[in-house]
Amino acid sequence: MKIDVNGSVREVDAPDDMPLLWVLRDVLGMTGTKFGCGMSQCGACTVHLDGAAVRSCVLPISAVAGKKVTTIEGLSTDGTHPVQQAWAALDVVQCGYCQSGQIMSACALLAEKPNPTDSEIDLAMGGNICRCGTYQRVREAIHKAASMKEAREEPASPAAGGARSAEHRQ
Ligand code: FES
Ligand code: FES
Repeated sequence: MKIDVNGSVREVDAPDDMPLLWVLRDVLGMTGTKFGCGMSQCGACTVHLDGAAVRSCVLPISAVAGKKVTTIEGLSTDGTHPVQQAWAALDVVQCGYCQSGQIMSACALLAEKPNPTDSEIDLAMGGNICRCGTYQRVREAIHKAASMKEAREEPASPAAGGARSAEHRQ
């Protein structure tokens, strides 16, 4: 079957019920997405399906037909995505194993809520387990990414930008 991964349509020879995670890692060789529990409990395998965070370890490839899959490799080719930059700036990563999933969940959250509160972050990220306990830095990095995205989206006009900045300070 054909699947759309990171903007490229790929032809894969795999059974319909093979989990997307297996297809990504073992068939397509995209190993950025990690295997943790294999039962939708840890979030290490999180990717986006049409922009929503999903657990690829329990998603059969038959379920992704006609939809767009985005993996950690598809966020940016040069590490310039605001979430990647915020993660690097705050040195979030410890062993790193959970972090692809953390970043993909964070990106899905920010797409839905550009300026999430702590409790919205905790709710959205609750299914992403980190055995190294980086939760506090993950939360700080999401706030930082939100402010970086906001800064990038400021209008070019100084007058309009100033007005918007003033609104944000209130
Ligand atoms: S490997 Fe998919 S949720 Fe743990
Ligand atoms: S950084 Fe080690 S499991 Fe999260």
